[in-house]
Amino acid sequence: MPTTVLVTGGAGFIGSHTCVDLLEHGYEVVVVDNYTNSSPAALDRVQKIAGRPLVGYVADLRDRHALDGVFERHAIDAVIHFAAKKAVGESMEIPIDYYDINLAGTTSLLRSMHAHGVHQIVFSSSCSIYGDAVRVPLTEDDQARPTNPYARSKWICEQILRDACERYPEISAIALRYFNPIGAHPSGQLGEVPTGVPNNVVPYLMQVAVGRLEKLSVFGSDYATPDGTAVRDYIHVLDVVAGHRVAMEHLEDESGMRVFNLGTGVGTSVLQLVSALSVACGKALPYQLADRRPGDVATLVADPQRVERAWGWQATRDLADMCRDAWRFQRLNPAGYLGGI
Ligand code: UD1
Repeated sequence: MPTTVLVTGGAGFIGSHTCVDLLEHGYEVVVVDNYTNSSPAALDRVQKIAGRPLVGYVADLRDRHALDGVFERHAIDAVIHFAAKKAVGESMEIPIDYYDINLAGTTSLLRSMHAHGVHQIVFSSSCSIYGDAVRVPLTEDDQARPTNPYARSKWICEQILRDACERYPEISAIALRYFNPIGAHPSGQLGEVPTGVPNNVVPYLMQVAVGRLEKLSVFGSDYATPDGTAVRDYIHVLDVVAGHRVAMEHLEDESGMRVFNLGTGVGTSVLQLVSALSVACGKALPYQLADRRPGDVATLVADPQRVERAWGWQATRDLADMCRDAWRFQRLNPAGYLGGI
C-alpha cells in the first residue's frame, strides 16, 4: 500500500480536497504545484483542516530538473496527477498552450517517475473525452470523440499512459474520467477558487451570489434537452476525492492501464442547477440566455457502474449537498482565500 503520495496540482480545487483526505487517512503528502490557477493559501488550509503537515514545492511539471529533485528528496510510492489546464472555452483560444502544459507536463512526470522507480499513478481524466454523446449514460467502452483541445489533451494523455503500460509492465495506471465536480469541503474552509473570472458554471454562479458578478450567461438554450440547456452529471468533490483514494489503494491489485468513470448517473441542466443553487443561497440568482459556448456538448451523464462493481465505490452526495457546501464556502470566503482563515 502506498504511504507517501505525490499530488501534482495539489493546491487546486480537487487536489486540495484530495490532500485533506490523504492526510486524514494517514498518508504522507508531497505537493507539486505552480500556482497558475491556485494559491499556496489552499495548502495552509489543507494542513489546518487535516491537523497534519504536508510538503509543498512550487514547480512546473515540465521542469524535469525540479521534478527529479522532488523524487530524490522523497520516497514516493504513488502519484496522483491533477496538474493541468482545464477550461474548455480557453482551450479553444490557446490550444497550443493546452497541449504543451497538459501533455508535456504528463510526459515529464512519467519520465521522472520512471527514472526513480515509481510505477503507480492515478490520472485525472475527464468525461469530456466522450464528446457529443450518441447515447447516455456513458460507459467507459463508449467511443472517445473529444470536441475541444482540453478534452483531446486528456484523451491523448490516456493514450500516453496506455503506451507506457504496454512497454513497462511494472506500471500500474488508473485513469479516472470524472464528470463535473462541484461543491466544497463541509468545513467551509476549502473550495473552488479560480484565478480571474471563473470559466466553470458553479464558481461563476457563486460570484453572482455574492455580488462580484452581475448574472450568469447560460450558454445555449436550444440543445436537444428537456429545457434546452446543457445537461451535466455534477458530482460532489468529496465523492471524487474518495474515488481517488480508493483507486490509489487498488493500484497494486494489477499492473497495466485501467479506466473508470466517476459520476453519479444523474443529469442536471444549467437551469436546474441555477434553481438548486438559488435555493441553497436563499435568493434567485440572475441569469440570461446566451449563445452556445464553442466546444460544448449537449449532454454528459455517467454510467458509474464499472467502478462500483470493481471496488464498491459510489457517489453518496446529491445536488442539494453540493449546492449547500459550495454556498457555505462562498459565504464564508467571499473573496476566496484572500481573507485568510
Ligand atoms: C468541462 C469538461 C469537464 C471538465 C470540466 C473541468 C466538457 C464537455 N466538459 O466541463 O469534463 O471536468 O470542464 O473544468 O468538456 N455554463 C454556462 N455559463 C457559464 C459557464 C458554464 O451556461 O458561465 C454551462 C456550460 O455551457 C455547460 C455547463 O454550464 O453546459 C457546465 O460548464 P462548466 O462548469 O464549464 O463545465 P463543463 O464545460 O461541462
